[in-house]
Amino acid sequence: MRKLLIGTMLASSVGAAAYAQDVGRVEVLHWWTSGGEAAALDVLKKDLESKGVTWADMPVAGGGGEQAMTALRARVTAGNAPTAVQMLGFDILDWAQQGVVADLNQIASEEGWEEVVPDALKQFSKYEDTWIAAPVNVHSTNWVWINKEALDAAGGKAPETWDELITVLDKMQENGITPLGHGGQAWQDATIFDAVVLSLGTDFYKASMIDLDPEALGGEKMGEAFARMEKLRSYVDDNFSGRDWNLASSMVIEGEAGMQMMGDWAKGEFLNADQTPGEDFVCIRFPGTQGAVTFNSDQFVMFQVGDEQREAQLMMASAIMDPGFQIAFNTVKGSVPARTDVPNEEFDDCGKKGMADLAEANTNGTLYGSMAHGHANPAAVKNAMYDVITQHFNGEISTDDAPAELAAAVEAVK
Ligand code: GAL
Repeated sequence: MRKLLIGTMLASSVGAAAYAQDVGRVEVLHWWTSGGEAAALDVLKKDLESKGVTWADMPVAGGGGEQAMTALRARVTAGNAPTAVQMLGFDILDWAQQGVVADLNQIASEEGWEEVVPDALKQFSKYEDTWIAAPVNVHSTNWVWINKEALDAAGGKAPETWDELITVLDKMQENGITPLGHGGQAWQDATIFDAVVLSLGTDFYKASMIDLDPEALGGEKMGEAFARMEKLRSYVDDNFSGRDWNLASSMVIEGEAGMQMMGDWAKGEFLNADQTPGEDFVCIRFPGTQGAVTFNSDQFVMFQVGDEQREAQLMMASAIMDPGFQIAFNTVKGSVPARTDVPNEEFDDCGKKGMADLAEANTNGTLYGSMAHGHANPAAVKNAMYDVITQHFNGEISTDDAPAELAAAVEAVK
């Protein structure tokens, strides 16, 4: 009898343990497929697995996430939305408007998200007072990543102005390397464009990229921005067309190219190649943009799912918002935490600078959503801009014509 009782107790406690551990499954759609991105994603996967959540991976390669968004549309149209989806800015609000995303208000209020997520991110994490996404990070696009040895060979001084930048690029060319590692894809061209426009003034960035003022879009200053793009184009190698961004990072890592103008996800590639900031590579703000930040934040938007997935979905949202996780993830990814209350000690020098720059820009009113990464305007406007920027970069639109083309393209869709 006694034996039987213990047996029954054991069986039920084992059953309970197994139940507590198996929280369920999350299917996650994302575009983190490069070496550095995958390493960061692994931090999230492992964290969830340790909490009993099974990870069903749905990677859709393509930097900037355009292909991932196409895949998402197909899934939702088929009535089969993933549990959670990596998403940027205005795309989040678009999906919220469709009425297909989940309500995270209860967990957000239990965990006090309201107090720790900055307004710049909250405008995308929430829709009509409902939390619908968990922000995992803040990236910014106005960075330059320079090979240290190549910089030393070019005089050793990190450029602070446009003219100094051109001097260094020229020197790198003389030294026989590709000065600018770049991949010819619309979103990458647009990422450089973010920084170039910002380098011509914060008011100009806001007027043209955010407020879509036709005069700023089609005016003389925009002519200067396109002239700068044309100049930068002259430092790119012949094989740049279609190249993935992480391969351009590799060129800098290996010293084949001098620098890359890219968001701080590039740092994830340098770290993944065992490089150290200050020793192997140098991170600077795009010359002329010091004190300002064009940001984008990766958020996991939770979609409406069946009850059997709900617990795992909430567990994922909660895990993402955990301060310890935000440190573990972002130190690998190259981004900075989405919470304002996370200490910076464990971040490297570029990460510390990223956190300080973000706080400073936020205080000074010089923090702007990145056009290239969907934080300045809805996708239709972004794509209209992409087309003109890329055609210009490829010589299909002249520098003289580009501002008017840009203004017209935006006018047609806004
Ligand atoms: C950005 C995204 C980053 C990184 C990058 C390249 O849009 O925010 O996390 O993945 O694309 O893929």
